[in-house]
Amino acid sequence: MTPDLMEEGARRVTAYAQAAARHRTASGGRAAGFARPIVPGEVDTTHGRILYLEDVSVSFDGFRAINKLSLDIAPGELRCIIGPNGAGKTTMMDIITGKTRPDAGTVFFGSTIDLLRYKEAEIAQMGIGRKFQKPTVFEQLTVYENLELALKTDKGVFASMRFRPDSAEGDRLAEVLRTIHLAPHADRLAGTLSHGQKQWLEIGMLLMQDPKLLLLDEPVAGMTDEETERTAELFLSLEGQHSLVVVEHDMKFVEQLTQGHKKVTVLHEGSVLAEGKLADVQSNDKVVEVYLGR
Ligand SMILES: Nc1ncnc2c1ncn2[C@@H]1O[C@H](COP(=O)(O)OP(=O)(O)OP(=O)(O)O)[C@@H](O)[C@H]1O
Ligand SMILES: [Mg+2]
Repeated sequence: MTPDLMEEGARRVTAYAQAAARHRTASGGRAAGFARPIVPGEVDTTHGRILYLEDVSVSFDGFRAINKLSLDIAPGELRCIIGPNGAGKTTMMDIITGKTRPDAGTVFFGSTIDLLRYKEAEIAQMGIGRKFQKPTVFEQLTVYENLELALKTDKGVFASMRFRPDSAEGDRLAEVLRTIHLAPHADRLAGTLSHGQKQWLEIGMLLMQDPKLLLLDEPVAGMTDEETERTAELFLSLEGQHSLVVVEHDMKFVEQLTQGHKKVTVLHEGSVLAEGKLADVQSNDKVVEVYLGR
């Protein structure tokens, strides 16, 4: 081989190594084959998950309320979570929303947002809405004003006083009013609504922020049968556009939501005891023993 051929070969090897180095990443060159820019504020669901918990544990005074809990939710999914009192259902929501810090484990919103690095208010801003059991609407304001207020929570007190919804926000408000079955009651004081209607109004207030993920803790507790049924219809209408995690003890409601085929998760002692179709988990011996059979 002549010296210049050898030199050219060496040059090619160096150029190849340099090009390869440019594409190499800490994770072993994945970026070269599958590059996705991280867009701030956007939830990356390309891996088919909007929420991902792995091996999460938390103890209170030595008591393990959550014990190596792993769970994931798909974009647009409506997932019901059931389980006995003290199973850790509410604590799980506290962890997702940043109210409680776990002792160990991983909690991701999409593939890129590590929720354990954010504060409760930041997590709410990212698009995780949470509904507690007790409705917290402003009773002295009208239904419409309550929804209007939900639009401007991040605008500060003085900006809020001057705030008027623009036309897109006005359209959204009207749409939410219809969704929560309160369009005919827009001008009523929230304090005069039934318990169920107050719950819908609070869900409407969450919807005004257009959350990607909604966490609903015992949303039909205290509702009449008819209100419960309409709430199920409401959640089914949100499925797809939003992901919903619904904790409930009311099996009739869960049955209506799962429509015979959706996955249900059973929590017990801070971990997943069973997962699958409602009919299957209902006939699971372990589930009957700790929960349904009581
Ligand atoms: N901040 C806290 N301090 C101490 N113990 C707590 C705290 N939060 C929850 N726990 C305990 O953790 C366990 C799980 O409670 P959690 O409220 O998550 O259960 P749950 O599944 O929501 O039950 P329920 O169906 O009754 O609402 C309970 O034993 C509870 O007493
Ligand atoms: Mg609870």
